Amino acid sequence: MNDLPNKQEELLTLLENPYTGNSFTFENGMIVDVVTKEKFPVKNDIPKILRNEKVLGSNRKQQKGYDLFSRFYDLLYKLNILDLEKWLAEMFEQINVESGDWILETSVGTGRQLLNLKRRGVDGVFFGSDISYGMLQQCRKNLNEWEIDAGLVQANAEALPFKDGLFDVVFHVGGFNFFNDKKAAIEEMIRVAKSGALLYIVDETDSIRESSGIISKIADRCMPAHEFYLPPVEYIPDNMSNIINRRLLDGKFWMVSFQKP
Ligand SMILES: C[S@@+](CC[C@H](N)C(=O)[O-])C[C@H]1O[C@@H](n2cnc3c(N)ncnc32)[C@H](O)[C@@H]1O
Repeated sequence: MNDLPNKQEELLTLLENPYTGNSFTFENGMIVDVVTKEKFPVKNDIPKILRNEKVLGSNRKQQKGYDLFSRFYDLLYKLNILDLEKWLAEMFEQINVESGDWILETSVGTGRQLLNLKRRGVDGVFFGSDISYGMLQQCRKNLNEWEIDAGLVQANAEALPFKDGLFDVVFHVGGFNFFNDKKAAIEEMIRVAKSGALLYIVDETDSIRESSGIISKIADRCMPAHEFYLPPVEYIPDNMSNIINRRLLDGKFWMVSFQKP
């Protein structure tokens, strides 16, 4: 292996091909499946481990939309739209992380939740994946500025390129409502989690439409029907423990958490 900086080099040893389950090697700047020789590129140190022809329907829309929106996304936080600072604080109260934990965020976006964890003193080993390369590019820029070290990879949350049983905490914030296959996304979160790991999934409830101003107008125009906004409790396998379904920020967000036995 060569040409990859430390974190990304370490990242490669943790990855596998989500479509075959095979390990990778690094050859001539490409990540290569050791058995099938399928190649995945690395762009600006970000491995792109997804087959674009498999990104369809709502996932494709999300990918394109967020690629376009990536440069402006942080304004939502900077302008504190939807009272996001209060929400971040409330969410953090529910999330149980220990320093030294291996933590994966499966739709890391521009890295705002990793900043949230750092601000609250969590000194974890961070990893983030996202379907949008634009968001990941912005994330890398932000993480450099915020002095946060994290391994980043472009991937579909429904087909994660990580090996089994790596993480102490696996979480997802935002985007889940519009996944093509929510069940697969939950199964993947569980697969990459260690035994005893904590898992958290957070997204908006339908009440976002009732918020005033531009956000409700955008929601009405771009977002599909109400049932999309329900927490995915029916997809959480019965053998998971401590399943909790709660609301945050005066009901604007749902959060489902559980523990892998
Ligand atoms: C609302 S943003 C949330 C970003 C970040 N978690 C945060 O809290 O600021 C939603 C993110 O989900 C990502 N996303 C949407 N569908 C995805 C999928 N199928 N797999 C992985 N990421 C996806 C988008 O690219 C976007 O970065």
